[in-house]
Amino acid sequence: MLDDSLIPQISSTPPSPPPTTSFPSSYNLFFPVLRRDKPSFVQLCQILNTLEQCFLETQRTVLWDTGPAIEVEEKEGTIADKKEAIEWLTKVVASSLEWMEDNEREEVLEKAAKCLATCCGKVATGAIIREWHFTTPLDSTPSITLRIRDSTFVDDNVGFKTWGSAYLLAKLIASGSSIPLTSLRSCPVMELGTGTGLVGLTCATLGCPRVVLTDYHPQVLSNAAYNIQLAQSLQTEILLHRLDWQEIAEGTDKAIDETFDIIVGADIVYEVVHTQWLPRVIDRYLKRNGVFYLLIPLRPTHSKEVELFEEKMSENGFVLIRCDEERGFDDFVGELKYRYYEWLRK
Ligand SMILES: C[S@@+](CC[C@H](N)C(=O)[O-])C[C@H]1O[C@@H](n2cnc3c(N)ncnc32)[C@H](O)[C@@H]1O
Repeated sequence: MLDDSLIPQISSTPPSPPPTTSFPSSYNLFFPVLRRDKPSFVQLCQILNTLEQCFLETQRTVLWDTGPAIEVEEKEGTIADKKEAIEWLTKVVASSLEWMEDNEREEVLEKAAKCLATCCGKVATGAIIREWHFTTPLDSTPSITLRIRDSTFVDDNVGFKTWGSAYLLAKLIASGSSIPLTSLRSCPVMELGTGTGLVGLTCATLGCPRVVLTDYHPQVLSNAAYNIQLAQSLQTEILLHRLDWQEIAEGTDKAIDETFDIIVGADIVYEVVHTQWLPRVIDRYLKRNGVFYLLIPLRPTHSKEVELFEEKMSENGFVLIRCDEERGFDDFVGELKYRYYEWLRK
């Protein structure tokens, strides 16, 4: 169930699912020499469509938890071909394609430019739907799959994509090594700073009876709403609320009138103000004896925020009952160390 009044722009019908073919580490495409071969409009469109598929597939099939060896091997296979493709695309964009009709030329240029953008990384690419697979110890559902859309980059907001922390936390939860699965399947869960919603929707897929996803940015909320729709076959009650930590900390919010035994968060401590706001938010929404499950990256540039946050949580009376370090991967920053916490409210 979505709180529509709070989400101004829920997207319409979800697009058809991405192709399921996996990206070959080396694709055999013939790149015609433009002036010499004068490829037809149809020929060029075929090549450009295939290239775009290949680049998009590369992003979809990144294996976020492989060891560096497999990761590097896969990437090396594609980079050599990719370089040739980019050089050719650049020539297409620069060519006058004088043997074509104006409208054909325009279409080819547009396709080639889009293709170049697609292979320039996540920010330049448009929205993309990824499939996430997790294994679980549950007999009824030994594995789960979630389809999650990363939207296009908006303003300076970081909730448009799924971050490495969300993937790691979702994986820990699905494997039963984080929230005990019996508790998860009987208690409502709140997620703070949900972004694309991967963590909360994983809880829902595992049988959590009620999940409340929260974030503050309208477009991030809109994308999360879309991802809830992608998961709409679930029996769980999934709510989406606008919740701004600053407003809670300063007492100016229109409150969510509920407290939770379980609160989860991934990659939500990256500014000094967060270290002041979040303990108050958790204080407000976590029940006594409830646990806050948090996973954050240890970015070398943000060690002060992490230290401060740990201090503030202790000062606010939360008891750290578990703290582990994990290695993980993110498609923006590569391999990183992550810290996993369980904070108990006495
Ligand atoms: C780095 S992203 C992490 C998103 C998601 N949890 C993940 O790991 O993929 C941080 C998220 O916190 C949200 N956020 C930042 N400041 C916030 C605030 N003051 N109140 C609520 N959410 C906030 C952002 O909109 C964004 O979705």
